[in-house]
Amino acid sequence: MVPLSAASWQHRWMQNSDTSAWWQHGVIYQVYPRSFNDGDGDGIGDLAGIIARLDYIAALGVDAIWLSPIFPSPMADFGYDVADYCGIEPLFGDIETFDRLLAQAHRRGLRILLDFVPNHSSDQHPWFQESRSSRDNPKRDWYIWRDAKPDGSPPNNWISDFGGSAWEWDEATGQYYLHAFLSEQPDLNWRNPQLKAAMIDVLKFWFDRGVDGFRIDVLWHIVKAEGLPDNPPNPDWTPDRTERDRLIQRHSTDQPEAHAISAEFRALADQYNDRLLVGEIFLPHDRHARWYGTVDRPQVHLPFNFQLIESAWDADGLRDLMAQYLDSLPPHGWPNWVLGSHDAPRIAGRVGEAQARVAMMLLLTLRGTPTLYQGDELAIGKVEIPPDRIRDPQHFRQPALDIGRDPSRTPMPWDASPNAGFSAAEPWLPFNPDWATRNVAAQDADPSSMLALTRALLALRRQESALSIGAMRLLDAPAGVIAFERAHLDRTLTILLNLTDAAIAVPWDTVPLLSTLDGEPQAGILRPDEGLVLQ
Ligand code: GLC
Ligand code: MG
Repeated sequence: MVPLSAASWQHRWMQNSDTSAWWQHGVIYQVYPRSFNDGDGDGIGDLAGIIARLDYIAALGVDAIWLSPIFPSPMADFGYDVADYCGIEPLFGDIETFDRLLAQAHRRGLRILLDFVPNHSSDQHPWFQESRSSRDNPKRDWYIWRDAKPDGSPPNNWISDFGGSAWEWDEATGQYYLHAFLSEQPDLNWRNPQLKAAMIDVLKFWFDRGVDGFRIDVLWHIVKAEGLPDNPPNPDWTPDRTERDRLIQRHSTDQPEAHAISAEFRALADQYNDRLLVGEIFLPHDRHARWYGTVDRPQVHLPFNFQLIESAWDADGLRDLMAQYLDSLPPHGWPNWVLGSHDAPRIAGRVGEAQARVAMMLLLTLRGTPTLYQGDELAIGKVEIPPDRIRDPQHFRQPALDIGRDPSRTPMPWDASPNAGFSAAEPWLPFNPDWATRNVAAQDADPSSMLALTRALLALRRQESALSIGAMRLLDAPAGVIAFERAHLDRTLTILLNLTDAAIAVPWDTVPLLSTLDGEPQAGILRPDEGLVLQ
């Protein structure tokens, strides 16, 4: 056997000069408030419920909680339709409860990131109510209104991300308004200076209250090309893809003016101490990397990187993508990795539990800030939602495509008591079918559980600065294996991941610190579905 060799040493993946910020060595945990824990017994998770489980989150070993939207909302898109950017949705609690959550989190060393939804508001937001009331209302221009074409059809060919035209006809004032998502989510007009100022005030409001940062929803959407030209057709579209994919979103997304606004968000965040901006950005590598901005004019700290979610679970392909991603970063750009979310299929549903363990090891040993989605630490798999319990509007807009997001939004199973310790009532979505055995209490008591592995990985990452902020280099490895090194100061760790269910010979003989499997690791071998961290 030849020893593992370094494929190449990528200088950019070496230690940055300054990797001391909390969000560089820390780990983000996403909480979907509706489904985390219900404090008031209405079957819907809420802030009091989250407070009651803060010890659980702190004990996991993560550093920050990103809360999906908690603002007043008619819930057409479960909070991503905001009716008041500076309030708390009554289903979730009130501002005093939020302040308590923030204080209690901070007491445990946990930061809180809120979800800022700048592209669109709810159609029930007072701003939109005013805007739609008449063509000469001062807030008319806070949204994007246009006349019909002479034949009465929409102003251009843009398609909503949820399917169908992105334009909704408004009978009362005889114009169309733009909505990149549901018609209940009218797009805001960021070219209007008053709107922009009002939204900047929203960020200040929460920063002043002490929140540690924001995840910014669909940031690359927020400005549209001047004149709203038609988007070009996508030559690669096939009928099994979403309606959205029929067009290339050239003129509706990723505009230079959106980058400028993102730099303004950052300038504001930098006036406060230690605050973090994470941008939701889906783009090819080269355009994705631009959302870091420049050293002189930085944009978001972390443009979310969804590669682990979007790529096939295949060692060669993933390895190439990881290298391309890391290569694409500007020198000041700190990487990040996301493995699951309220929008994406569950990792364990996609690759099976054994590989979900390998995936967790990958997520928590790669160079870059990891974001971990609630429930993935239990390896919740794909949940079939009975037709009468489906809630996600994305499903209803394109029912044939199996793109409903409810399966990843099922409530956290805490224990084997009625309603899984989640609520005193039947929850808004069903649990994972195996909740009676796959729950926090059961896995807490089982040293070989996914929860135990996740905690062990997080503890190791905390203990070994090589894993959090260390340099990284990919190693040549046999087919089916991802291998890399992480190094900081004089400490080097090797990570070997078997992405197959067969044993694979790999030359290693150093000290294993952690395996994804029970039993003794065998030198020179990766057992089926085994991931190893070696010293
Ligand atoms: C983001 C959210 C998703 C929401 C959409 C519209 O992608 O993560 O849940 O539906 O934006 O706000
Ligand atoms: Mg509740």
